[in-house]
Amino acid sequence: MLFRRFEGRDFAEVLQIEMEAFEDHDPYTYMNFYEMNPEGFLVAESGKNITGFVMGYRSSEQEGRIFSLAVKKEFQERGIGQALLQIMQRHFRNRNVKYVRLEVRASNKNARRLYSRMGFVDCWYEPGYYIDGECGIIMKKYLYPAGLYEDLLTDNWPVIS
Ligand SMILES: CC(C)(COP(=O)(O)OP(=O)(O)OC[C@H]1O[C@@H](n2cnc3c(N)ncnc32)[C@H](O)[C@@H]1OP(=O)(O)O)[C@@H](O)C(=O)NCCC(=O)NCCS
Repeated sequence: MLFRRFEGRDFAEVLQIEMEAFEDHDPYTYMNFYEMNPEGFLVAESGKNITGFVMGYRSSEQEGRIFSLAVKKEFQERGIGQALLQIMQRHFRNRNVKYVRLEVRASNKNARRLYSRMGFVDCWYEPGYYIDGECGIIMKKYLYPAGLYEDLLTDNWPVIS
């Protein structure tokens, strides 16, 4: 598995994954995101196939925000989602961001379990956050400063090419 920055040629495959994963998908958001924040758009690639992606951006001096994360169905539960999140966390930490924030549907048990296991905690609920009226949960994770603590555990961290 290779992790690298998104490139224009990946667009169709990323959109395919996104359409499978989310009901309220929007292709233009993805292209706009890439134009404004190419560094924060990463993909996982296996052979010649894109198997997952993550998008994140710095939303304030202190905060990094995960905007979207998805893994192709047949590649789920192999650690790709975790690896993409780890790379994004490192991206933020190297820029001295203090914590990461994300939003998740209350009903999205798989994603919530992954986030909790990675140290994200439920912070508050946003009623009607999603277009169909479902409640969103805001989760956050504190990032230890670069060079401290987590670096001791990063031997197995994915490498981005
Ligand atoms: C949420 C999502 C991104 C997780 O991606 P993933 O690649 O399956 O995540 P991982 O493989 O890293 O972890 C998922 C589970 O698989 C397990 N796993 C990882 N590697 C494994 C392996 N080799 N064998 C068996 N299980 C494994 C993990 O331990 C984890 O278990 P847990 O849920 O009990 O903690 C994916 O389910 C997805 O795309 N969902 C649809 C879109 C979505 O909901 N996105 C999030 C919006 S907020």
